[in-house]
Amino acid sequence: MAAPESGKGKTAPASPPDSTPTPNAIGLLTTDHRDIAAWFADYENTDPLPRKAKLAEKICVALRVHTQIEDEIFYPASRAALNSNQESLIEGAVGDHAATKALIAEIERMNVGEPLYEARIRMLRQIFMRHAAEEEEALFPACLRTDMDMAALGARLAARKIELMRKLTRPGGHPVM
Ligand SMILES: [Fe+2]
Ligand SMILES: [Fe+2]
Repeated sequence: MAAPESGKGKTAPASPPDSTPTPNAIGLLTTDHRDIAAWFADYENTDPLPRKAKLAEKICVALRVHTQIEDEIFYPASRAALNSNQESLIEGAVGDHAATKALIAEIERMNVGEPLYEARIRMLRQIFMRHAAEEEEALFPACLRTDMDMAALGARLAARKIELMRKLTRPGGHPVM
């Protein structure tokens, strides 16, 4: 009778064998950071303007979606779970998102090849890299010390991400603005 419980010490939640694994909130957001950082690096290492334009579009859409799912889902859940001393982590992050969105709007009104275009992309990359590092080094660890349900949040983030990606991307792959 005790035999089937030999793996009892493991705490991995059971999931139906045919279900897709539930995404974890921190894992999903960190993967987004890695993807976006890689596209910024590709942009830097790319010369042809049409390719640069496509990468910039991809980065801007991904950043719009990423900041929106954090604003709508992850930050409110974090704010509710963190103590009042840690709220500044969220306040700073919200400010970074506002700066990010303003820069994206500016970039989307410009054309690749314009003199200020490169400077704006570089500024966007700097804000993003610092912001993502702060989330990964301060906000996420603080959240992981709370009782936030990262599996449930991950599922909500993943669903909303799919919805927003559909909304912000045209069939041809161009962002809808
Ligand atoms: Fe963020
Ligand atoms: Fe983030």
